[in-house]
Amino acid sequence: MKKFLLHITFIIISLISISAKAQNKISVTNLQCEMLSNPEGIDVVKPRLSWQIKSDVNDVKQTSYQILVASTLENLNANKADLWDSGKVASNESVNIVYNGKRLGDRQNAFWKVIVFTNKGEIKSVENAHFSLGILTYADWKSTRWIGYEKLSKDDSISQYSKLSARYLRKEIDLKKQVKSAKVYIMGMGLYELYINGNKIGDQVLAPVPTDYTKNVKYNVFDVTSQLKEGKNMLGTILGNGRFFAMRQDYKPYKIKSFGFPKMALQLFVEYTDGTSEVIRTDDTWKLTTDGPILSNNEYDGEEYDARKEMKGWNTTNFDDKNWVNARYVQEPGGFYEAQTSPNMKIMGEVKPISIKATPKGTYILDMGQNMVGWLQIKVKGKAGGRITMKFAESLKVDGSMYIENLRDAKTTDVYTLKGENQEIWEPRFIFHGFRFVEISGLSGTPTLADFTGKVVYDDIKTTGTFESSDKTMNQIFKNAYWGIRGNYKGMPIDCPQRNERQPWLGDRTTGAYGESFLFDNQTLYAKWLDDIKNAQTQDGGIPDVAPAFWRYYGDNVTWPGTYITVADMLYHQFDDKAVIEKHYPSMKKWMVYMEENYMENDLIAKDKYGDWCVPPESLELIHSLDPSRKTDGELISSAFYYYLLQKMKTFAQLIHADAKDIQYYDSLSEKIKTAFNAKFFNKEKNIYANNTVTANVLPLAFGLVPNNLQQQVFENMVREIEVTHKGHISTGVIGTQFLMRTLSTFGRTDLAYQLASNKTYPSWGYMAANGATTIWELWNGNTADPKMNSQNHVMLLGDLMVWYYENIAGIKSNPETPGFKQIIMKPAFDTKLTYVNASYESVHGLIKSNWKKVKKALEWNISIPANTTALVYLPTTDSKNITVNKTKLEKASIAFKAEGNQQVLTLESGDYILKLN
Ligand code: BGC
Repeated sequence: MKKFLLHITFIIISLISISAKAQNKISVTNLQCEMLSNPEGIDVVKPRLSWQIKSDVNDVKQTSYQILVASTLENLNANKADLWDSGKVASNESVNIVYNGKRLGDRQNAFWKVIVFTNKGEIKSVENAHFSLGILTYADWKSTRWIGYEKLSKDDSISQYSKLSARYLRKEIDLKKQVKSAKVYIMGMGLYELYINGNKIGDQVLAPVPTDYTKNVKYNVFDVTSQLKEGKNMLGTILGNGRFFAMRQDYKPYKIKSFGFPKMALQLFVEYTDGTSEVIRTDDTWKLTTDGPILSNNEYDGEEYDARKEMKGWNTTNFDDKNWVNARYVQEPGGFYEAQTSPNMKIMGEVKPISIKATPKGTYILDMGQNMVGWLQIKVKGKAGGRITMKFAESLKVDGSMYIENLRDAKTTDVYTLKGENQEIWEPRFIFHGFRFVEISGLSGTPTLADFTGKVVYDDIKTTGTFESSDKTMNQIFKNAYWGIRGNYKGMPIDCPQRNERQPWLGDRTTGAYGESFLFDNQTLYAKWLDDIKNAQTQDGGIPDVAPAFWRYYGDNVTWPGTYITVADMLYHQFDDKAVIEKHYPSMKKWMVYMEENYMENDLIAKDKYGDWCVPPESLELIHSLDPSRKTDGELISSAFYYYLLQKMKTFAQLIHADAKDIQYYDSLSEKIKTAFNAKFFNKEKNIYANNTVTANVLPLAFGLVPNNLQQQVFENMVREIEVTHKGHISTGVIGTQFLMRTLSTFGRTDLAYQLASNKTYPSWGYMAANGATTIWELWNGNTADPKMNSQNHVMLLGDLMVWYYENIAGIKSNPETPGFKQIIMKPAFDTKLTYVNASYESVHGLIKSNWKKVKKALEWNISIPANTTALVYLPTTDSKNITVNKTKLEKASIAFKAEGNQQVLTLESGDYILKLN
């Protein structure tokens, strides 16, 4: 009997290992907490956990999962889930599963893994993941003091062009025992760099992310165990100005918010191997100097650095700080302390210049070949005291000189003073520029291209999308959009990176954020921005046009503040992030009610500030059109937009099971607006809206305001406007362009949308590219317009173009019913002149690919669908016999399909497919 049992056991074990082998093509990876790649300090006690299933075999579905969370790695490895064992949960969900275990405490460590059960067998996560809670209560900062130095030094000034030297701080600490683990929590305002024993901690730059520091202050967390040793150690920080100090201190104080002198607070928690622990905190025993090499760092004006003033070894124990003073106690910034859960900026790439030319003035102009955002690293030689000056600009004038007029009063100049060593390498720390060209003076000898490197600086987020097609103009526009979007991510989405503005304007991202989300993993960045917007809300409900409200623009209009709602919608739709809706619903509703109560008259909202901002003007020198026939009625825009937002609010209310009264309120208000809107703006004789601009018609079409039986007529009329009046060109501004491309496709005219996307003549995105743009301009006529408002790196005119590239051309769209691409709708329009498209998108569930090409009259389409998702795939044929899937006739393959109009719709399970249509 014993023998028999042994034999059976052996057979079972072999079967398990065989099935494990068969399964080893499926794995669980990419375990993420709150979708953060480095969750060292999060201050949510019920964090959300996500994972992806990767597989080489088709048709993989998760049937259940089991999450194990332990307080130590040892426990986890021993399967002792002392914090949470979810048990086996029957569910196909793998994104944002809310932690539901023991209450997590201050600075608690958690280690986790997941066991996934699929229709193809059981799989364990390949790697264990880890997250840590932050400092959860204000009280836990205990006696940590804010320190700084609130005086100007000799060469500092408070003016329209404020100058303030960087603060250097140091503190020697003596660790008496062997260190087991150590973590540092730092708030360094405006910007900090942190060093331990001379080594820089982390690869972030321009950290932390900017906020309205009177509302919330972000701390960064680093595990510094490996940096510390028993005995003497040196902590060092440099504080720059960022948005805290250097905001045009003395200039328009009624409009521009500033926060005072740089300051910091820090806690270092050290645990020793003997089980004891110690906390080191900022206090007035820290030493400080303002007499270091960074003489000035002003985001708009540039950085000045005198290498002769370098203090070798200042951040190591080997340094004499007798000339330093004790840091002073200063007031805290006022805002609540929060763990930063959106990424810091980083050097994300390098650009090698393409030419350098001497000018008659004796200077050199360097061409980076690309309008980029970041800074320039220089390698130079020269006598001590020699000054090298670098002036940054986006383009050149016809005579070859720098076009700096569009920078307004931003000086955008870095100055490096040589120390006189053999070769000196320098790059700034606390500023950034938006530039393609750099005029350099003060160089000795003839420079070469190898002396210069452009550092591309933006938020540390993944590129998630690729797009390539048979149309070169469309490809160039995609590239320009890619450079423009990433350059303007600065811990918040800003309007432009070069002139004296650089503000997080809401209206620039209303739909843009959605398009951007295909190219970049912008989830946590935009979730942070929603917090910024919430924090900027007034007591009575008003939302500004700029948030954080560094510029105070509380003008009460619909279109710019409405971005609060559309961005939340984007996060839900693209990333399955329902928490942002739950969190922000009350303040969004408050704003909707506020706008209704204060501005609704006769069921319409007349209040509007920006109109259809930046339509192509009648004369190429203008910024804004003066021609009434190009402008769209502000009341039409506000009212239509408000109606559109009401529909979103209704969906949110249903989603979070809000009070039923809310839904009734949105519904009845919508009905009233629709009636009043059509009564006022719809011309029944002509089937047009208002003065018949494309924007006046596209908004009601896109928002469902047009009576059903008249939609086609209104649409055809709009098409006539585009084709005849505007000769197949765009005539919309920031508002109309957000809906134009998709509406053309929805009503079956992707061919016309394609014409707009591939145009090279004015006005078009292609015109920008044909005229040297390597990013997207603020104005359609950006090469000829008045420099007063003419940035060459602004993303707002992209409108819905990127959404259209992915959803309508590549055919990668999340089914609105199943957010986060749980089901993908793959419905490209094939009836354009495009002969092929290769696109991919890294969704929260994994990589989606859509590569199609026309081969004579046939169509070949390669598709990848991530494990645990499905796709509805649309092929343009009435006859299913024309279709093969992976070389098998569709009718013989075991794939569900049905006819819909003149298309066949296939439901594909996960995996790779080659579809052919003859
Ligand atoms: C900004 C825009 C912004 C607009 C609104 C401009 O100066 O650059 O992007 O949306 O103002 O007034």
